[in-house]
Formats: sequence, structure tokens, C-alpha cells
Amino acid sequence: MSRTLVTCALPYANGPVHIGHLAGVYVPADIYVRYLRMRGRDVLYVCGSDEHGVPITIKAREQGCTPQDIVDRYHRMIKDSFTGLGINFDIYGRTSSAVHAEGASEFFRKLYDEGKFVTRESEQYYDPEAKTFLADRYIVGTCPRCGNENAYGDQCEKCGSTLSPEELINPRSKLSGAAPVKKKTTHWYLPLQDYEKWISEWILDGHKEWRTNVYGQVKSWLDGGLQPRAVTRDLDWGVPVPVEGAEGKVLYVWFDAPIGYISNTRELLPQSWEKWWKSEDTRLIHFIGKDNIVFHCIVFPSMLKAYGDGYILPDNVPANEFLNLEGDKISTSRGWAVWAHEYLEDFPGKEDVMRYTLTANAPQTADNDFSWKDFQARNNSELVAIFGNFVNRAVVLTHKYFGGKVPACGNLEDADREVLAEIPALKESMEKNLEAFRFREALRDAMGMARAGNKYISDTEPWKVAKTDMERTGTILNICLQLCADLAVAFEPFTPFAAERLRRMLGVTLFAGSDHRVGEAVTVNTYKEGEGRALHTVSGEVPAPAPGEIRLDWELLGRPQILPAGHSIGEAELLFAKIEDDAIDAQLRKLDEARARIEAARKAEEARKVAPLKDECTFEDFEKMDIRTATVLEAERVPKTDKLLKLSIDTGVDRRVIVSGIAEFYSPEDMVGKQICILANLKPRVIKGIESRGMILMAKQADGTMRFVTPAEVLNNGSQIG
Ligand code: 2FM
Ligand code: ZN
Repeated sequence: MSRTLVTCALPYANGPVHIGHLAGVYVPADIYVRYLRMRGRDVLYVCGSDEHGVPITIKAREQGCTPQDIVDRYHRMIKDSFTGLGINFDIYGRTSSAVHAEGASEFFRKLYDEGKFVTRESEQYYDPEAKTFLADRYIVGTCPRCGNENAYGDQCEKCGSTLSPEELINPRSKLSGAAPVKKKTTHWYLPLQDYEKWISEWILDGHKEWRTNVYGQVKSWLDGGLQPRAVTRDLDWGVPVPVEGAEGKVLYVWFDAPIGYISNTRELLPQSWEKWWKSEDTRLIHFIGKDNIVFHCIVFPSMLKAYGDGYILPDNVPANEFLNLEGDKISTSRGWAVWAHEYLEDFPGKEDVMRYTLTANAPQTADNDFSWKDFQARNNSELVAIFGNFVNRAVVLTHKYFGGKVPACGNLEDADREVLAEIPALKESMEKNLEAFRFREALRDAMGMARAGNKYISDTEPWKVAKTDMERTGTILNICLQLCADLAVAFEPFTPFAAERLRRMLGVTLFAGSDHRVGEAVTVNTYKEGEGRALHTVSGEVPAPAPGEIRLDWELLGRPQILPAGHSIGEAELLFAKIEDDAIDAQLRKLDEARARIEAARKAEEARKVAPLKDECTFEDFEKMDIRTATVLEAERVPKTDKLLKLSIDTGVDRRVIVSGIAEFYSPEDMVGKQICILANLKPRVIKGIESRGMILMAKQADGTMRFVTPAEVLNNGSQIG
């Protein structure tokens, strides 16, 4: 029997996860895994924190702690967020673990010993004061494209340009502020060009069924020609390069992170991990965001190919596009996001609503948008008004008319047959969609079942029929309860907490696929109920049902009479509760505050910007200018203008009038008595009929505001400046 290994991109442990991560990677993966498990498939679900890389060291330095402190904090936070949302990996490991260090070292060492790397000497930036090589992120300078003074050596976050440190104007080290110097260093490179043909055959010829965004990106990388890629770095945080002469070097984070998938599997299953990674019976599926495509479709597969030893390749890489937030790109560094841990705090018991909204708006084929109003509408008009409302009516009426026991199903009418026929058709569509990673469409199918049920109960009106015909009422409610049981299976992948509540209400359990007969030995992951978690039991025999236990599974979905007449159901519980405007307004206020912080940071950044230097001038050019101190004696606005002040000034040599465009920044009263600096020999000009003799020296700031220049202490008027 084939098995499926599902991996989710290892999130960087340098910040919390946000809804973009959830929508792009973790919610779709979780839906897929829950679905496969319901079908009794053997699944392993692996993830963990990506704890290396330069941004983590930068964050540690900024916060005055160690990189280990940073990753410890975020590893825990991220892990808890996943658990809180019902995303329960079989293992959530970490790349700072000993198992990983050993595995990644061994991986490198084998490729090294077999001559699979090439070495290259290059000149890299080095901080002569801190005595260390500088990763691109550790070099800051002025962006040659937009003038941002704090662009990084790899990217300008202001204009989005990809840069190299060489392009920065006035580069400086983030560590010491010193100007970096070039120094020779040697690194190991994986010659990706050697794998080009093989990748092309494997993906471009062999996987035309992959999503077009994934296929297209691979094609364009291959069309551009692959280059050797460095797999080591000069850095003191990461897995040390395990060869002599490599002191001060670590494995590049993108070399060690994907090996983390393997290390985490080894950590969980030290004896049997190889069957997940080296058996043709395993399908490997990588869930990732679009920015990770090249690493999962080109770099990691080339690493595995170079390693050999039977490692399998991904069967599919269903990468998603990006999710925006209220129309703007989500950004951790700018603080524009909805953080998973904050959501869980702000909306306790509403884990499913976020899962549902992110799936309904999944950025599967194009970037998509999350808005709080849409979130509220999805909850109130879909989960509450359709799914929740239907279930509630069915359960409450069963208690009211039949003492909480499933009534018998009598003769079927057309409406009954029609609604019952809808379910298998929707199930088939849902199955196809789930198998093809079309989760948005699969959710629509599941919701179609809830809609069908809700319409059926509204149309048949059992509360009215009950006044005259209890047998017919029983038939209607029997059908409604069967539909509820269908929903308790169909919604398990999407809204596992609600699906579990529903099963409790119906007095049923969920069980892994009917492929497994009672008494048969299984080595599959099976469900245990409890807090929406799909825990796995590793092996054993499928236990016989407890007396009266009704087990649901995927195969039963849509079959007639899953719940036998006479079965007692539990009390009605609320499946979903309405979300009021004030909860949404509070979130919108939070975003307004974030917007204000971003705007303030932008302005501060803007204000720090300095105009580029003018062309060179000679000393003689400068000497021509007669700059002097002077004092303003009188000031008045020039009539019918907004910007002009007429100033009478004492230059120490004479008294004269200067017309100056500073009324936007100073009132006449501000100016009287102030000592200023003027260009005294500027050719007189007539402005608004007034002869202006000279110019006041003003300092113009990046935001356009101007301030006059004044000596540090009062001087004699007419003192020459030069
Ligand atoms: O983009 C990211 O968040 C990376 N940390 C993903 C790594 S995926 C895998 F290769 F480990
Ligand atoms: Zn820029």
C-alpha cells in the first residue's frame, strides 16, 4: 500500500507565523493530510522550525541576545500557533537540533567526499574592525535605484530592487559601521548546471500536471541556465562545515533547511525513516509558498540526486501564490499582518473560522486578499447561517419531537430523493478536487452539501408538518440527520473543531478508512478524538467498535442510513457563533494603528534621506559668493501671496529688503529680531513689484520643510561666512 509523506515549508524561527503563511502552506497541507487519513491512507506529516540564516543573527544582535534565544522563543510560539489551529504535525522539529546537525553534516560530507562540489575563491566583503566576513544582509548603504540610505546588500526594502553589495553607494558594516573591505574566501558550490537536463526531463517532460505557477517558474529557471550555487557561508550561526580548513564557515541555510525534513523524520522514526524517504512506494508532497519553488524543485532535488542512495523526489509541489491583507502586501518587517498567535487570543474557539476563510480565499492560482469584513461575512452568512443553522434545526427538532432518537425513515418523496442524490455527486467532486490540491473548490463542494441540507429543511418545514403528520416529520428529520452525519465527515479536513463537535452531537466517532477491517493489523495513522486533533496510533489491530459505537469514515459519506433509526443523539451544541461588528472593528483599529506606525516609519525614513551631492565647484566659484550674518528688523507678508515675506534687514553694511519664500514655514513675528545668514551679492530681482537684494540661507529637509540658518551664537552683523 502506498504511503504519502507530506512536508510543509519549515518556517523561519525569527518571527511569528501570519495568515499568509497559513493560507499558503499550512492550512492546505492540513486539509490534505486530514483527508488522506480519513481515507485510511498511510501518511506522515512533517514540519519544524528553520532556525539558521542571517536574519536570525541580526535579530539577536538587535535585541542583545543570542540567536539560540531568538529561535527558542519563536519555535515555541510557532509550534503553539499550529497546535492552536488544529495543525498537528507528526513531528514539529527544529534545525538547531543535534539530530539535524548530524544529518546535515553527514549529507555535506558525503557529497564532499564524492567530489560532487566545486570550490571557488571569491572576494567577499569583510569587516576589518569586527574581523569577520559580512553576509549581504550585514552590509547597508544607499540604494543606487531609489536613494534609500538603509538598503541591504541583497535587497532594498524600499523599492524592492534585488541588489548586490557592490552596487551599494557608501557601503558600511551593520556590525561596526566600518567601511567593508574585500577579502578572499573559498566556498563550496553545487554545480546545478550538471543537473539541468535531468531536471528538465523529470519536471518539464514528466510533470506537466503540476500547477502552472510551479511548472512555469521551473521552466524559466531552466531556460535562463543554471549556475553553481554556494552551499556554505562565512558565518558563526548554523551547521559548521564538516571539513578541515573550513573554520568560521557554516552550511548555507538553504542547504541545511530542506535536509531538516529528513532530520525531523529521523528524529520521529529513527528505525523506519528510510521507508518514507527511499521507497518508491512513498509519494512525497511538498507544501510551500511561491518564493520557495526554486529550492524545492531545483536545488533540493539536485542535492538528493547528487547524494543518490535511493532518495525519492517530490511527486508534487503544490505551491501557492501570496495572500494580501486588506489590499496590501503582508510584510513581517513592516508589521502588516494578522499574526496567528494574536488571532488565537482574540478569537478563542474560532480556529475553524480562520481555516475556513483562508481556504475559501486560498491564493491557489493568483494572489488573493484577506479582509476582516469578508472574514465576518464568511462566518455569519455561511458557517452560521447555512452550516450551523441547518445542524441546529435538525438536532433541536429531533429532541423536540423524537426524544433525541433518530426517527425511522418512511416512504421517500421527490424532495428527499433529490437531496440524497446531491451528496454522492458532491462527494465525488470533492474527492477529485482534494486529490488535485484544489482545496478552495473542495470546500465549495462541502459547503454545497450544507447548503443542500439547509434548503431541504427550509423547504420541507418539519416544524409545520409535525402538526399533522409525525411519520413524515420523522422521515424528514431522519434525512436531515443523515445529512448532518455526512457533514461531520465532509468538514473534517476544513473545520475539524466543528466537525468534532458535530460528531459529539450525533453520538458518532470518526475512523480511518474502511480499507481496514476490524482485527486487521494496521500500520496506518488513525484518528483519536479530542480537541480537533488527528493523533496517530502507529500500529496494531483495528479495535472492534464499542457497543453502540457508530464509526463514520470517508467511504460512508453519502451512503444511505449511516445513522440507524433509534440511535440516540446528544444535546444541541452551537457549531458556530455570530461575529459581531465590535470584534471586527477592534481588528480594523489594530490595522489602523499598524498603518499609522508604517506611515510614521516611512516619514522618518524619508526625513533621513539626503539629497545627492551637486556637481563639483571650484574654490573660486565659492569665493564669488558673499555670505554674511544679518538681523531681521521688520517683517510682513507680501499681499496676495501665500509664500512670500518681505524682510527689512540690517546687513552690517546697509539696510535692505529681501523678499523670501518662507511664509509657509515662518510668520512675520517669528522672524523679527532673528539673526540669519544671507547671500549678500546676489543680483537684485524684482518680486511682486518689490526689489529684493539678496537671499536668505535656508536648510531644506527631505520632507520639504525649510528652516533658516543661524549662527551658533549672535555675531556682529556683516560677519563674512566662508
Ligand atoms: O521561506 C521560508 O520560510 C523558509 N524558511 C522555508 C524553508 S523550507 C525547507 F526547505 F526547509
Ligand atoms: Zn531602493
